[in-house]
Amino acid sequence: MAIFAALGGTAILRSDFVTGVGRPLAQPVPFSHRHHVGELGVDCRYCHSGVETSSSAGLPATEVCMTCHSQLFTNADMLAPIRASLASGQPLQWQRANSVPDFVYFNHSIHIAKGVACETCHGEVDDMIGQ
Ligand code: HEC
Ligand code: HEC
Ligand code: HEC
Repeated sequence: MAIFAALGGTAILRSDFVTGVGRPLAQPVPFSHRHHVGELGVDCRYCHSGVETSSSAGLPATEVCMTCHSQLFTNADMLAPIRASLASGQPLQWQRANSVPDFVYFNHSIHIAKGVACETCHGEVDDMIGQ
């Protein structure tokens, strides 16, 4: 009996419901990849600048958003957390969707150098609103 309970428990832990697959995360600003990448054509590396040179791609600093948003949409309510972050010096707290456990060593730069496209692992990011 105990073995069935254990296996059932594992199935629940790995289900999309628990891992959150398909559900957008709540973010401090409703950032849209579809808009910035798909429509405006901003390069991934403009915001994830570590991806070619280090193990981690990194998430963009507030200043990166402000290169455009100090001129565009400057008063939008949606962007208020960005202005507050710039004023206070406190980085935006983006929720992470991808995170391998600490015992897994993953290095981006090696994969990029070998020509693996972002989309191979991350899917069609340019069409994602939540990610
Ligand atoms: C290369 C310029 C550029 C950069 C860099 C940039 N944005 Fe934008 N962003 C735009 C433009 C242009 C618009 C939309 C104007 C429009 O709707 O016509 C926009 C719109 C938005 C909107 C409004 C909602 C939407 O998607 O329509 C949000 C929120 C936003 N940006 C957040 C961010 C955040 C957060 C960052 C930094 C991680 C960022 N932007 C970096 C150019 C930029
Ligand atoms: C204008 C800035 C900007 C550009 C350009 C951009 N991103 Fe992002 N990206 C972000 C921000 C901000 C987040 C964190 C918020 C979120 O997850 O939506 C993020 C999150 C991600 C994540 C999720 C990371 C995690 O673990 O939560 C992936 C994967 C990603 N981006 C891949 C890409 C790829 C691939 C491209 C190019 C096709 C790209 N991004 C272009 C700003 C950008
Ligand atoms: C071989 C598969 C693979 C490729 C190719 C890949 N990624 Fe990733 N990416 C991952 C994994 C795995 C993670 C989670 C890493 C972790 O948790 O340490 C991740 C995490 C991220 C994150 C979250 C922040 C971070 O640094 O961990 C961003 C942003 C991201 N990738 C962007 C990109 C972009 C942009 C490209 C293309 C230039 C790209 N990735 C190519 C597998 C990949």
